[in-house]
Amino acid sequence: TRDIYILAIESSCDETSASVIYNGKVLNNIVATQSVHEKYGGVVPELASRAHQENIVPVVSEALVSAGISKSQLSAIAFTRGPGLMGALLVGVSFAKSLAQALDIPLIEVNHMQAHVLAHFIENPKPSFPFLCLTVSGGHTQLVLVKDHLEMEVIGETRDDAVGEAFDKTAKLLGLPYPGGPLIDRYANEGNPKTFQFPITRMPGLNFSFSGIKTAVLYFLQDKMKENPNFIQENLSDLCASIQYTLIEMLRIKLEEASKKLQIKEIAIAGGVSANSGLRNTLTQIAKKKGWNLYIPKFEYCTDNAGMIAIAAHYKYLKGEFSSLDVTPLAKMKI
Ligand code: KG4
Ligand code: ZN
Repeated sequence: TRDIYILAIESSCDETSASVIYNGKVLNNIVATQSVHEKYGGVVPELASRAHQENIVPVVSEALVSAGISKSQLSAIAFTRGPGLMGALLVGVSFAKSLAQALDIPLIEVNHMQAHVLAHFIENPKPSFPFLCLTVSGGHTQLVLVKDHLEMEVIGETRDDAVGEAFDKTAKLLGLPYPGGPLIDRYANEGNPKTFQFPITRMPGLNFSFSGIKTAVLYFLQDKMKENPNFIQENLSDLCASIQYTLIEMLRIKLEEASKKLQIKEIAIAGGVSANSGLRNTLTQIAKKKGWNLYIPKFEYCTDNAGMIAIAAHYKYLKGEFSSLDVTPLAKMKI
């Protein structure tokens, strides 16, 4: 058999990333995180595009050097086609197309949300089909029925904000910098999740809604700060623990419902919020109780990375699913 090296590029949001995969084994996963967004309290699309433009060549060069290969050894170029920020995607798509044309090798488009799920196939143990994946990120919250590597169906999703967005927006109300999700996680570890009660939104079917919690937290804080201006500082850990508990409950309830409805005990989580230690612990306990096989990705494959684009591209390469050189990015893209 031939040596198959694929270079994969991810540029959908605020991480510029490149990875080389060799016959299905991810050799590296180089990620340049953009810090420019911190002071704005969120991702500024225009600045993300510019940072991708600066980072993409160094990141790709580092991936090739670390894999110990030259461009001429590549069999294909893969890239994230969507969903994501248009300007950010354009950088990766243009770069991938140019390189594929120059090297005269196939181009492989990857759906970012499929890739988050396929991150589970980078290392062992791998889930077996069919399995359920709860994909939780800054832009999406989805329950996905995974029938095969490239055959997935969204069976539930958020009607408004993503759960990562809810983490980040409530963190902002607490005066924490962007992205606040990891900070809520850290403070929550020292707090009591039962100190404050926030409403649990229950949507019909397997859908979610996370926009209510930020309003609830906002009014709650305004009220408390009237009496005590230092309320947040004095209760930060308990606030973080209580908010995190509420968000995790909303995820847990729907995941359990989906597992029961579809009679599937093969369960995975993916996306940036799957790095949350509270979510990991809660689901690990549920898994023991319910007899689930639970799959949790390594931290580096939870948040946006090109390793997951590379593994998705590997399966597409095996099936000969290539894109034409006039492909364009899609800000919205269905799984
Ligand atoms: O998958 P990702 O890197 O990017 C998107 O595709 O959106 O997810 C980023 C999201 C952010 O909202 C960030 O706050 C959240 O994942 N996140 C966390 C944690 N680590 C990252 N949220 C809660 N706890 C964490 N430990
Ligand atoms: Zn993502």
